[in-house]
Order: sequence, then structure tokens, then C-alpha cells
Amino acid sequence: MANLKIIQGGTVVTAEGETRADVLIEGETVVAVGLDLAADGAEVIDATGAYVMPGGIDPHTHMELPFMGTVASEDFFSGTSAAAAGGTTMILDFVIPAPQQRLMDAYKQWREWAAKSAADYSFHVAVTWWDQSVHDDMGTLATEHGVNSFKHFMAYKNAIMCDDEVLVNSFSRARDLGALATVHAENGELVYKLQQEIFDKGITGPEGHPLSRPPEVEGEAANRAIRIAEVLGAPLYLVHTSCIDALEAVTRARLEGQRVFAEVLAQHLVIDDSHYRNPSWEHAAHYVMSPPFRSKEHQDALWRGLQGGMLQTTATDHCCFCTPQKAAGKDDFRKIPNGTGGVEDRMSVLWHHGVRTGRLTPSEFVAVTSTNAAKIFNIHPRKGSLQPGADADIVIWDPEQTRTISKETSHQNVDFNIYEGMEVTGGAATTLSRGNVVWADGELRTVKGAGKHIDRPCFPDYWEGQTKRNTLAEPTAVDRG
Ligand code: URP
Ligand code: ZN
Ligand code: ZN
Repeated sequence: MANLKIIQGGTVVTAEGETRADVLIEGETVVAVGLDLAADGAEVIDATGAYVMPGGIDPHTHMELPFMGTVASEDFFSGTSAAAAGGTTMILDFVIPAPQQRLMDAYKQWREWAAKSAADYSFHVAVTWWDQSVHDDMGTLATEHGVNSFKHFMAYKNAIMCDDEVLVNSFSRARDLGALATVHAENGELVYKLQQEIFDKGITGPEGHPLSRPPEVEGEAANRAIRIAEVLGAPLYLVHTSCIDALEAVTRARLEGQRVFAEVLAQHLVIDDSHYRNPSWEHAAHYVMSPPFRSKEHQDALWRGLQGGMLQTTATDHCCFCTPQKAAGKDDFRKIPNGTGGVEDRMSVLWHHGVRTGRLTPSEFVAVTSTNAAKIFNIHPRKGSLQPGADADIVIWDPEQTRTISKETSHQNVDFNIYEGMEVTGGAATTLSRGNVVWADGELRTVKGAGKHIDRPCFPDYWEGQTKRNTLAEPTAVDRG
């Protein structure tokens, strides 16, 4: 048989459990998982002492995003390469049309940019405005282009923010298509007002950023999006849940049987808001992202939310801006491009702070870094699993590998690392993307353009039928004779 590889001697970990097994790969695909498989002349990859897991899926990145007057510094090739170095083999990025831009035009533009990806990718498409063409393009994207999720920014007023009218129209349309509505939950009107007030008080530095985006602002938007989705019977996914207020809204909805999913960023779990008060303006500016970093109390709650299943996925919102780009907001925190990196470090950070502390089992780690995203976005078991027939997106994980995270050794295309100096144990020894080794022996072997777009089909009918609204009694008119 041609192009065979066998990963021998490792412990296979999936979301279901762990077992000693070899993994046989033919071409791009896993063909067998079992003990002492016949090598049949396959190229042997030794995984002794390591875990063999589905490659990570980062469901929230922004490569080369045009945003706040600049363009994110990481492109699709450098970004997917850095991801591979950290054990992540697929990203879900975002097409973000400018208001009044046709969704299809923006989608084609992003597909062109992404053609240089080294690992597989797919797109959420943002709805930033509404008219009949948006309605129609959502249909075309869902039925002909494998887009099953539509994003809504409830913040960024005067740019890409959706008001309630857009949310209602778009959530309804997504529901009818069998697609998933997703939201960045922050009340953009409140942010706008608070930013003005804080700036007028003379607070112009990065410390103004979290003051203008307190947890209540996120909690309000999370709850509003959830309630709108509930009334419409639309499934909903919240990106970058960062605080107790939003987590409580998600928890209440889930306990009431509503189909609501929520994501947490690795950085929101382990980095707190003290960085905004760092004496170095540049340092503080590199932590300007939305929602902002929070206090330890919120971090603890997020960990519990992840452990308890209220938060299902972990992401990075990888959106890099170099120091000269951040400097656009030197005199006004409102103009600092919002975003941080982390696509390379997510898996290590979660292993170190999650698995090594006992918060997560290795199997739970696989669920929250890969499998749950694959299931929620309907690409499982092709992605997020090691079942025969799955794409051979695999990470061979060395649980004893120790490194100190630094921008000096990072493969990310950004001049700052938000985890700088953090020592982590556990990392990717070898990464395979559809059967090809893309990271081994501390070296990248990624190939520009080797990544493929992954279509994500819409969801079956029962998905919509299981939302809470549909369990309410059918409304009836009063017969007045
Ligand atoms: O600050 C952030 N998160 N920048 C990227 C855009 C977004 O809100 O996801
Ligand atoms: Zn966001
Ligand atoms: Zn984002």
C-alpha cells in the first residue's frame, strides 16, 4: 500500500477515553487504531511515552483581518503554521463584510486570502447589516459553500455592530437554514458611552479599555442574545465568554434546556486585568482586546464553567497587532486595535493549567480543544476524532516537554507574546495535518497552500426542534364568535 504511516507506542486519547494503541494512516486518512497493528512497510513514527490525540481545532481566529484602520499581522500561512507548532491543525476564521458589502463578495475575498493556509480552515461569516441580499447570500453560503455559522458583533458601534433588528432577522434566517448564530456579546451602545465618559475624565491610556467594558456590559448582551434566540427558537453560540455575568446567562439557559453553546479563550482563563495598569504603555496596549481581561474571580468561574460543561470549546481569538500598530491609540485607548495572539500556545496553556492541575482529564482536554468544536460546527468525526475514516490531523503530545513561552521562540508573526515568561509543561512533539508531518523535532515543515477549506453542512431538523421555544405551547387565537 502506498503512503502509509504508523504511529507506534503511544497512548491514544480521544474525547471518549484513552488506550494504548497504534494509529495507521494511509495518505490523508486514519485507517486503523489498535494494539500492535501490522506496520506493512509503513513509515514508523515513534510515540513512546506520548499521547496521540486529534489535532486541536481553534474555532475563533482572525488571520490578516482588516480591523480598526489596520490589518492583523498574522496571515493565513504564518498563522496556520504557528498553530501547527502548537498542535492545532484546523482553524475557524471569520469573513467580516463591511456594512453594505455583499456577503458573497467578502466571502470570495477571504477565500482568496486563505488559499495560502498550511492547515485546514473554514469560515464563520459575519452579518454586519441587513437587507434582502444578506438574506439571500446567507442561503447561498449555507447551501452551496459549506457555511453553517453566522457571526454577529453586538459591539464596535459605527463599524460592524448589529442592532437588535439585524440580530432578529439574521438569527431567524440562520434558524431556517439549519445554521448556528454566533455572537460577540458586549453592549456596544454602553461601551461607546462609557468610553466617552472615561476619555473625558482624562483617562486616555489602555487602563481605560477595561473600565469601558465592565462585565455587566457583556452580561447584558449575552442575556439579550440568548433571550432573542430563545424566542426565535434559534440555536446560539457565544464566542469568548469572559466573565461571571455572561457565564450565568449561559448556565441559566442551558439548565432550562435551551440550545446555547459557549466558548472561552485560553487567555481569559489564565491572564488577569492587572496588565492594563502596567507602567509600560506598549505592554498594556498589547492586552487590549475585547472583551477585556478580568479579575481572578472571573477566571475561577470560567474554569468551573469549562469543567462543568457550561463552556464547551476553547479558542484564542488570535488577532495579532504589532507594537507600531497598537501605537495608533497612543493618545486614545479607543483607537488601539483590539486583539491578542495565542494560536500557538492555546494547547500548551490548557494542558499545563488544565490537565496538570487536575482540572481536566486528558480526555476532557481533547474534548475542549478539538472534539466539541468539531461536533458543534458539524465536522465530526472527520475532524476532532481518530476514528477510521477521519482526516489524519494528529498531535503527538509530549506531556513532559517544558518550555518558557516567549516572543523570541514563537512562530507567531507578532512582536509580543501575552504569555511571555510563562513556563508550561506539555507540548506538541509532532503534528500531522491530513497525514503530512508539519511539525517535528522543533521545526516547522508546513507547506503554503496545503490547507484545504472544510465545508460544514447545515444541521439536521431535530437541531432546531430541540430549542426551548419549541417546547412552549402553540399560541392560539381567542374565538369571539
Ligand atoms: O479584541 C478582539 N477580540 N479582536 C478581534 C475581534 C473580535 O472582537 O473578536
Ligand atoms: Zn469578538
Ligand atoms: Zn474574534
